[in-house]
Amino acid sequence: MSRPPFITFEGTEGCGKSTQVQQLSVRLEERGIPFLVTREPGGTPIGETIKELLQFAPQGIGMTPETELLLFEASRSQLVRQTIKPALARGICVISDRFFDSTTVYQGAARKLDPQTVERLNAFAVGDCIPDVTFVLDVDADTARARMQKPRRPDRMEQEPAEFYEQVRRAYRQLVAREPNRVVLIDGSRSAADIGDELWATLVRRFPAVAGKSEIGNLSEPSAPTSQRPKSGM
Ligand SMILES: Nc1ncnc2c1ncn2[C@@H]1O[C@H](COP(=O)(O)OP(=O)(O)O)[C@@H](O)[C@H]1O
Ligand SMILES: [Mg+2]
Repeated sequence: MSRPPFITFEGTEGCGKSTQVQQLSVRLEERGIPFLVTREPGGTPIGETIKELLQFAPQGIGMTPETELLLFEASRSQLVRQTIKPALARGICVISDRFFDSTTVYQGAARKLDPQTVERLNAFAVGDCIPDVTFVLDVDADTARARMQKPRRPDRMEQEPAEFYEQVRRAYRQLVAREPNRVVLIDGSRSAADIGDELWATLVRRFPAVAGKSEIGNLSEPSAPTSQRPKSGM
């Protein structure tokens, strides 16, 4: 392949995204594959400021869905141009904890903004920067809730009612049906280790270069692996 893969993780809060991002990072590191981990919203100084406003700032209460959509896209446009595209161009594999599918699902399906407008804004924000593979970790509401029992700062999305959760889950499944070549549904109810094994098998099948030192490694700079780990939310 001409460049290393751009991999994204999606799913409801508590489905295990950050856990799997971490496990995948370990595997890539072991094999000497240069990679970069980022997340949405956030991942850049501008994006992290937008994230605070979107998720935790008291001023966020009363935010309209339209404003929310535009802020996510603003964070995303910055991340794509400042971080993701330059990394891929240097031969570095990029892993993002959430990306534009989260907007399709949360702002489109769950907040009920016009889906075509959401898709247009997604396209404007990312340009040609489309993930090569997207893993959707699918768990039911009870499992996700149980996993979120440990102390953490609940963001605005996590305070939504159960119906919101179901809409999000359904929309993710529809996405898998719509784009089966890119989006892979993973049963997230199993152990983290089993899920990690399945993810890895899928990746190696699709991108044999991630299995070991290879064309990807040869394209990168000697200081790799590069890892920009999220400060929190893991
Ligand atoms: N497959 C799994 N089985 C059981 N617990 C898990 C699994 N994956 C993650 N967890 C735990 O569930 C919690 C939420 O996982 P996390 O990876 O932070 O989810 P997300 O990033 O999707 O919100 C964490 O405490 C994590 O250790
Ligand atoms: Mg997380």
